[in-house]
Amino acid sequence: MTQKKKFIIGNWKSNLNSGEINLWFETFYSKYSHKLYASTEIIICAPFVYLSLAKKLIDKYSLPIKLGAQNVSPFGSGAYTGEISALMLAEFVDYVIIGHSERRQKFAENEKILKEKVERASEQKIKIIYCIPDEKTIVPDRVDFIAYEPVWAIGTGKSDNPENADRVGFSYKQKKNCIFIYGGSVNADNIQSFLNKKNIDGALPGKASLDPGIFWEMIINASKAN
Ligand code: PGA
Repeated sequence: MTQKKKFIIGNWKSNLNSGEINLWFETFYSKYSHKLYASTEIIICAPFVYLSLAKKLIDKYSLPIKLGAQNVSPFGSGAYTGEISALMLAEFVDYVIIGHSERRQKFAENEKILKEKVERASEQKIKIIYCIPDEKTIVPDRVDFIAYEPVWAIGTGKSDNPENADRVGFSYKQKKNCIFIYGGSVNADNIQSFLNKKNIDGALPGKASLDPGIFWEMIINASKAN
């Protein structure tokens, strides 16, 4: 049986400095083996200011890691002080996270703003990982990935159960042609149980992605999933 393509998306959030990022890649490289990764897309969503460093380190170690951003401006180029446009990001990343619940809650991002962000990213052909905090969330068109991340499961050590996540995946896949990801307290011990599910194509670990050893273990365990 051919294995489905899997996606492991590390979301570093607002963590790590340049020294720690150098060490992260050095350690990851020391563990990395080509064989295990074949059917897995590995993505790291680094803070904006370290995307360039992460890109250099990926090249230095010839790692098959793709980069993602954690946010994007809802505007194009212009007088938008402090914003990072999709055009700028396209130089560094293949992916962008939009609509993470931390941004919805702490930065008041609403459906209208999120829709603009999706449009800007889509114009630059950046693949969109659209986070939904619950199964009632409406997903805009042009989204490539839906990341189901129940708010209560984020950073709490209490993940949803794989059966429920699979059910949510099934219901979104009925409506949209998308890749379905689960996030919320994913770790090396539970990743396989999520990826074993038919409607779950990948995982979005936050905390567990900060440690390159644990991140690598997650990739190994994900490779054992159906
Ligand atoms: P967590 O975060 O793995 O630390 O729960 C996941 C996320 O917020 O993307």
